[in-house]
Amino acid sequence: MIILIGSEKGGVGKSTLATNLSAFFAIQGKDVILVDADRQSTSANWIQDRIETKKTKIDCVRQYDNIKSTLQSLDGRYDIVIVDCQGRDSKELRTGLLAADLVIAPFRPSQWDLDTLPTMVELISSAKDLNPKLKACAILTMSPTNHNINELELARSVFKFDNLVLLQSVTCDRKVYRDAASIGLSVLEMDNEKASFEISEIATEIITIINS
Ligand SMILES: Nc1ncnc2c1ncn2[C@@H]1O[C@H](COP(=O)(O)OP(=O)(O)OP(=O)(O)O)[C@@H](O)[C@H]1O
Ligand SMILES: [Mg+2]
Repeated sequence: MIILIGSEKGGVGKSTLATNLSAFFAIQGKDVILVDADRQSTSANWIQDRIETKKTKIDCVRQYDNIKSTLQSLDGRYDIVIVDCQGRDSKELRTGLLAADLVIAPFRPSQWDLDTLPTMVELISSAKDLNPKLKACAILTMSPTNHNINELELARSVFKFDNLVLLQSVTCDRKVYRDAASIGLSVLEMDNEKASFEISEIATEIITIINS
């Protein structure tokens, strides 16, 4: 199963999701490989830091340009292939979409992030012509934890895209995501119930979508 995390916006939480979901499935005993398709190497660096932690091992490979056939071949060898793409329209994103089972497009509850989604929807739609099994969802990330701020509900209310499901689960803006990222850990390994719950909910929801 190939899960690609992609968006045309930088800094929306792609690598955070890619690393935490990889850890979630690896901790569950799945054979997981994290494919870093972004030359920034955020995910690959996280894996390097993780080696020193002696936590559940996750394989990782850097792959650039046309990644379609590499993803297909990894799909035959691993239970789950998670791809971290860069934050713009790229060859990696376009070719990755041709192999993926599911694309997840993270966005923050802000108008500027929302504005990038129509182009993403178009990209996904073109990819579906060549890869009919491709499913697509979006997820709200870094949502304010202050309940008096209603940005999350506002973003949900204006989210209206055919062919793109908005996940119920979200990530909230929590320092623990940054703390975990800096030491090669997932939030599941940081003794933080709220963030762990968020990642578990996201994983459960995306598996339901893939199996639907
Ligand atoms: N839920 C969260 N709570 C707090 N901080 C977060 C959360 N998600 C991501 N971050 C932080 O926000 C920043 C951007 O996240 P991340 O690197 O995952 O985004 P990205 O989409 O991969 O960015 P890029 O487009 O540059 O690859 C990082 O510093 C990360 O630690
Ligand atoms: Mg990234």
